[in-house]
Amino acid sequence: MSTGHVIAIDQGTTNTKAILVDMAGGIVAKASAPLKSTYPRPGWAEQSAVEIWASVQAVIADIMASGNYDISGLAIANQRETLVVWDAETGLPLTPAILWQCRRTAKVCDALIADGANPAVVEATGLSINALFPASKLGWVMENVPEARSFAEQGRLRAGTVDSWLLYRLTGGKTFATDHSNASRTQLFNTQRLQWDESLCDLFHVPLSALPDVRASNSRFGEVADGVTALPASVPILAMMGDSHAALYGHGVRAPGLVKATYGTGSSLMTLTPERVLSKHGLSATIAWSEQDQGVTYALEGNITVSAQAAAFAADMLGLPDAKALSELAETVEDSGGVTFVPALAGLGAPHWNDTVSGTISGMTLATTRAHLARATLEAIVLQIADVFNAMEQDIEGSLHGLLADGGASANDLLMQLQADLLNRPVTRSAQAEVGAIGVAAMALKNLASLPAPSHQSDTVFQPRQEAGTWRSKVTGDWRSLLGRLTAH
Ligand code: G3P
Repeated sequence: MSTGHVIAIDQGTTNTKAILVDMAGGIVAKASAPLKSTYPRPGWAEQSAVEIWASVQAVIADIMASGNYDISGLAIANQRETLVVWDAETGLPLTPAILWQCRRTAKVCDALIADGANPAVVEATGLSINALFPASKLGWVMENVPEARSFAEQGRLRAGTVDSWLLYRLTGGKTFATDHSNASRTQLFNTQRLQWDESLCDLFHVPLSALPDVRASNSRFGEVADGVTALPASVPILAMMGDSHAALYGHGVRAPGLVKATYGTGSSLMTLTPERVLSKHGLSATIAWSEQDQGVTYALEGNITVSAQAAAFAADMLGLPDAKALSELAETVEDSGGVTFVPALAGLGAPHWNDTVSGTISGMTLATTRAHLARATLEAIVLQIADVFNAMEQDIEGSLHGLLADGGASANDLLMQLQADLLNRPVTRSAQAEVGAIGVAAMALKNLASLPAPSHQSDTVFQPRQEAGTWRSKVTGDWRSLLGRLTAH
C-alpha cells in the first residue's frame, strides 16, 4: 500500500472532480462525475442536493478503485453561494439546492436596496445585496417551505453551502460546519467581526440557529463515518474552501500583488488585500481563506457574468463549430477593424453591474468581415477582465504585477497574448488544469507535511508586446465609449 495521500474534491456546478495527491503535492489519480442542473422557471436554477452528494460518493469510489492507497485526509473545494437546506432528524434536504445562478429573489433584493438597506450590508459583509448570495435564498425558503419554519422552531433545521452539506453527509451527521471563505459569500456573515450577523439574519428573515459553525479553512473538520463512502472510517476532513478561493491558493498566491482569473463560462478574478478593503469600484470584499495559525486573509473579487461563453455564443452566430474555430478565424486578421462587441448577454457583471444592458455590436462598416467579429469577441473577453483588473487597482490604490490564468479558455494562446498586451502585464497560464483542487489539497497538506509553494516551472508566461500600445489605446477607447453609451440613462 502506498502511504500518505489526500483526496481533494472539487464540487463544481457542471461536474464533481476528485484528485488523489501525494505528500509532495503530485497528482496520482483523477476522477470526475457529471452533474445536471434544472431551470424550473425563468431565472430559477436548481440542483438535487442528493445528486451532489452521490457524485461525491462516486468520485471517491472511483479513486479508491484505481489503486491501493493509504488516505491521510480529505479536502473539499466547492461551488459557492449555492444553498442546501435539510432536516437534521432525517438528513434529507427540504428543497432542491438553490444554485448560485438562481435569480428567484431578484425582486426581494431590489426592494431591500430601494429601502436603503445596502450600505449597512456592504459594511458588514463586503457584498452588495444580490440574489446570488444565500441570504435572500434562505429567506425565500423560510417564506415558501412550510416545514422550514416548524423545523427551525424545533431546532432541527440546517442551512448551509455545499461544503457544509457534504461535510454533514461525510461525517454521518456529526459535524455541521463551514469555513470562513464559504461563510463570507453567504451575505449573512460579518467579515469584520468574523461571526454570523444577527441584524442581517433579521433583515433577510432567516434563523441564525440554522447556520453552521464557522471554522478556519484548514481545520480538522471531522472524520468520515463508517460506510458512507468507499473510504475507511475515520479519514479526517482537513480543509474546505470555496472553489475560486482554492484556485487562488492553488496558483501559489500568498501575498497581495497578483490577480487570478478563471476563464470559464463567466470569469472570477481575485486578488489578496492586506486588510478588508470595501470596494468603491464594483467589486466585492471577501475572505480568501483562514488558517488556524495565521487568521483570516482578505481578498477583492470581481465576477464577470458572460466571459468565455461569449466565444461559444459568437461561434454559433457565425455558423462555426466551436470557440476554437472562432479563435482560428480571429487569427486571420490583425485587429477587429473597428468593431466592438459588448457581450452583455445576461446583463453586465463586475465592475459595471447593469442588468439593463444587452449584448451589442458596434462599429461595423461594409469592410467588416466575420473574422473581425471573431476578433472583436476575443477582445471583449480580455477587455472585461481588464475592467475588473483596473477596478482592483483603483480599490487598492496601487498597481498589480500580473495575472495568473486558469480555466478552459486559458488554453487559447491568442486570448492570453491579447490579455497580456491589453493589461501591459505578464499573464501566466497555469499548467495545472485542476488548480482549485490542488489549492485545497495544499491547504489540507499543511496539516500533514510542510510543503513547498506550488511549482510554476511548466506554466506558460505571455509577456506584453511593446508594439501593442496603439492597439491597446484604440480598443480601450472604443470599449469605454460604447459602454458609456450603453449605460447612460
Ligand atoms: O460563485 C460560484 C462559483 O463558485 C461556481 O463555480 O466552478 O461551479 O462554475 P463553478
